[in-house]
Amino acid sequence: MKPFFVRDIAIDPPLILSPMAGVTDYVFRRLIKRRGGVGLVVSEFISVEGLTRGNPKSKRQMRFDEEERPFAVQIFGGRPERMAMGAEMAEEVGADILDVNCGCPAPKVVKNGGGSGLLREPDRLEDILRAIKRAISIPLTLKLRTGYSDSSINVVDVAKMAEQCGVEHIQVHGRTREQGYKGLANWDLIRQVKEAVSIPVSGNGDITSIDYGMEKWRESGVNGILIGRGAMQNPWIFRQFEDVLAGRDPYQPDLAEKKAVLLEFFEMCLGEMPEIVALGKMKQLAGQFTKGLPGGAVFRQTLYHSHSEQEILDNIEAYFTGLNGDRVRSEESSADTDLEFASCESASTVAAAI
Ligand SMILES: Cc1cc2nc3c(=O)[nH]c(=O)nc-3n(C[C@H](O)[C@H](O)[C@H](O)COP(=O)(O)O)c2cc1C
Repeated sequence: MKPFFVRDIAIDPPLILSPMAGVTDYVFRRLIKRRGGVGLVVSEFISVEGLTRGNPKSKRQMRFDEEERPFAVQIFGGRPERMAMGAEMAEEVGADILDVNCGCPAPKVVKNGGGSGLLREPDRLEDILRAIKRAISIPLTLKLRTGYSDSSINVVDVAKMAEQCGVEHIQVHGRTREQGYKGLANWDLIRQVKEAVSIPVSGNGDITSIDYGMEKWRESGVNGILIGRGAMQNPWIFRQFEDVLAGRDPYQPDLAEKKAVLLEFFEMCLGEMPEIVALGKMKQLAGQFTKGLPGGAVFRQTLYHSHSEQEILDNIEAYFTGLNGDRVRSEESSADTDLEFASCESASTVAAAI
């Protein structure tokens, strides 16, 4: 499992922070990147309708820092000319890669022909990809689900078409739109895509442990792996993966480091956004991060009912002070890995609510 290239951009290590609306913003991406082991980060999906109409939120979503490179901007939409304009804007702000979302299942996105809606209309997707290729010189990549419905799985054909259009990296989340986030991702379909095209292919779906990730990687033969929800539960997952790939024992953060990462995230949020939004972001991350830690459920409750920066800080302090190291280790080993977010839509709801 070696680094791979998207044209001349090394994805090294071949591990990608999967885009998540309402999560993988400027703050979260840097938090994860600083833990090590991430070869590529991607923006949240950005509406080209918003971008090309000067919507300040859409423009803000393209912001990134040099420390994040290589950095991909992901756009969504259903109209070729708007997608091309949005892609041009991403190139202008200095993104290394332009990624097209062909997977979001949210009805609002699909209704307008974007996201996984494009899987129902491969001709329209082809027009979009060709229009973007004419508009930009940075590499174009695609993130796909396996099909629109379970009876119309077409990811292999779509990937072949995309390769013909000049797409330089395919990323497959192994579920159909119909599946949403239910069941398990189908890594056999991901393997079939890898075998059908000659550009790099990365796989995605349900990687929350190194063992499972290594197993799926070997079985599918993909060039890279994307991890989404697993990074919220364990910001060190990429570093641990990289360690195992290099033949080392996976890094194990101690309690002090776990506390520090929460505080670092909170401080970054407070520096970037209004306090009320920062509180919401903190609750969102802590909700995932403390899963499996002893007393995590009670801690989450106290956090959800915290209404100020100081209250949050006090609760974090009290929680970590009260933790007993031995209990942590034993309970962590049986940590549940429930994945809480159900859809892009629910993420947008979270984002809108905070
Ligand atoms: C809250 C949330 C928001 C997401 N937003 C996006 C998005 O903006 N663009 C995208 O391509 N996929 C998005 N996804 C899908 C993830 O990138 C990924 O494909 C999916 O969660 C499966 O990977 P995982 O099991 O590692 O989380 C989102 C997923 C979640 C849970």
